[in-house]
Amino acid sequence: MNDLHFSTRIIGTDFEKPDAHGAIALPVYRNAAFEFPDSEAIAAAFRGETGKHTYSRISNPSVANFEQKVRTASGAESAVALSSGMAAITNTFFAIATAGSNIVSSPHLFGNTFSFFKSTLEAFGVEVRFVDTDDLRQIESAIDANTCAFFAELVTNPHLEVADLPAISNILRAKGVPMIVDTTLVPWCAFDAKKVGVDIEIVSTTKYISGGATSTGGVIVDYGTFDWTKNKKLAAMPQPKGISRFTAKLRSEIVRNFGAVMTPDVAAMQTLGLETLQVRYDRMSATAAELARHFAGHHKIARVNYPTLKTSPYKAVSDALFSGHPGAMFTVELGSKADCFRFMDALKIFRRATNLFDNKSLVIHPESTIYCTFTPEMKRTAGIEDTLIRFSVGLESVEDLKNDIENALQRVCIIYP
Ligand SMILES: Cc1ncc(COP(=O)(O)O)c(C=O)c1O
Repeated sequence: MNDLHFSTRIIGTDFEKPDAHGAIALPVYRNAAFEFPDSEAIAAAFRGETGKHTYSRISNPSVANFEQKVRTASGAESAVALSSGMAAITNTFFAIATAGSNIVSSPHLFGNTFSFFKSTLEAFGVEVRFVDTDDLRQIESAIDANTCAFFAELVTNPHLEVADLPAISNILRAKGVPMIVDTTLVPWCAFDAKKVGVDIEIVSTTKYISGGATSTGGVIVDYGTFDWTKNKKLAAMPQPKGISRFTAKLRSEIVRNFGAVMTPDVAAMQTLGLETLQVRYDRMSATAAELARHFAGHHKIARVNYPTLKTSPYKAVSDALFSGHPGAMFTVELGSKADCFRFMDALKIFRRATNLFDNKSLVIHPESTIYCTFTPEMKRTAGIEDTLIRFSVGLESVEDLKNDIENALQRVCIIYP
């Protein structure tokens, strides 16, 4: 299987057990509980000795099937599916962080991740140390004996910065710190996380994977590359068979106690989404690149941001990591917030909505929506400006999207020479 191309491998991944009726897609196991022939059989299942499902908050065949496809897609040792990207982020950090520990992170984060770090986690005594991830010395000097993880978004949302993960990985390996990366913006068909030193990958599967915004979901992917005896919380655990201490802690305690699991219906939809991932990604990413190229230098736009543009400081690292396909999100900066609103209100194909990588093209003004509860100080730290508009490019014709943007730009007042 491993010598086959991405789409062939994903579509060809078989179920764990053959279906009784030979169904070509795994039927949805829409049940909460599983029955056992006798008391010893259910006791053995609860002790984890048989691999049998007991209760769908703990594991479920439809969800396990999705997790298996994610392992095929990523090449990882294990994958744990949850109810959203935020559930994947929160469960990950509750598995590894203790009061007194710290996380070294970029401050340029999706708004809810920033809020989780600064509001939720810090209330439990976990410090989050923000660093400029372009400055390797800052990362190195922020790490100390209490650092439980380095965290970054692969491509930051909405700033479109791309951290030099191979260089950061060298520092983290030397310091014994795991690299945890939110790779939501570039999926497995365009990026090999393991190759660049990612230990734990977090994905909001709501985005590309769900197959057109069918459902919310998240997945925690463990490459089995980190030695968790270096983590204060996990060091004392006995080494489980076949999985890391981190994934064992997640499965046996954190995920089942928080209960934010992926449901069987969602797993079935997202399994189908994975099967069409590459065609959708290639098309959306190519359209985003063309729109960014076309509108760069437009007299009504102060700046277009997209990693393949020559003006992006991240072009070289993006080209190296993503073979020229950094995804379907791009941003534009206009002259004022009022111009942003006038422009967005005139769009006819792009829908004003807060999501990424739907089949439909979307547009949002992050400052007044996703970050609206942030104080001015938090917005400054998170680098959020009120002149920025974020686009998520869907599957419509590139010409129609170009015309939509061009027509809406007529409503913009501030002009650049
Ligand atoms: C980069 C990134 N990470 C995580 C999330 C959270 O994902 P979810 O909405 O599935 O909880 C988002 C949502 O937009 C995101 O953009």
